[in-house]
Amino acid sequence: MSEPALLEIRNLQKTFTTAGGEITILQQINVKIVAGERVAVVGTSGAGKTTLMHILGGLDRPTRGEILFEGDNIFALRGAALDAFRNRTIGFIFQFHQLLPEFSALENVMMPLLIGGVPRAEASEKASSILNEVGLAHRLTHKPGALSGGEQQRVAIARALVREPCLLLADEPTGNLDSGTSEEIMALLNQMHLARGLTMVIVTHNRELAASLDRVLEIEDGQLVHDILN
Ligand SMILES: Nc1ncnc2c1ncn2[C@@H]1O[C@H](COP(=O)(O)OP(=O)(O)O)[C@@H](O)[C@H]1O
Ligand SMILES: [Mg+2]
Repeated sequence: MSEPALLEIRNLQKTFTTAGGEITILQQINVKIVAGERVAVVGTSGAGKTTLMHILGGLDRPTRGEILFEGDNIFALRGAALDAFRNRTIGFIFQFHQLLPEFSALENVMMPLLIGGVPRAEASEKASSILNEVGLAHRLTHKPGALSGGEQQRVAIARALVREPCLLLADEPTGNLDSGTSEEIMALLNQMHLARGLTMVIVTHNRELAASLDRVLEIEDGQLVHDILN
């Protein structure tokens, strides 16, 4: 591909030190992702997918290698500077949505804006608008416990996108949903991709979902074993 990469994974290795010694979870991973690509990450449980996503999202540091965003190594940043880069650039949907149970849907979605210093009234307006976009205008004041699994995932999507990141990382976003709800969530992500030109990297066990994206990366025992354009 001749286009410059938005995101490049270069010689990535991740080793954890445990009581039983060192274990290498990811090794020799090299991938270039261009802006606007929709990439699926597949692989059996324990293959290293979540570890990879956390590193791509700047939530965990690599042992060796680099993650380049628009050509710059994101781990050259540390602490508050890395947090600020992440908040501005990357939306993350966790495997278990990780909404705050004590707060309403609206407050959950406002949170990244408030953390980023956006005034409360503006944060509320932006959060309502994106909750409307994901089809939850009628659920603003519900707490996560009073929402269905699919609705909770929509809130998580709204929270991930409310700061208008250019990169969305999603770790099994349909993993805990029935097939009908999974399809709705996938359609919503594709709609966001079209509307915002979002680059998406999505971990999934759903082969159909993987096949519907532009490209599939398969991780096996911490190594990239397939990289296929659909
Ligand atoms: N903090 C950690 N310390 C030690 N081992 C870990 C840690 N996090 C993950 N692992 C191990 O790394 C492997 C890959 O985990 P993970 O990335 O969660 O896989 P996947 O998401 O593909 O199921 C697993 O064997 C897991 O036990
Ligand atoms: Mg995982």
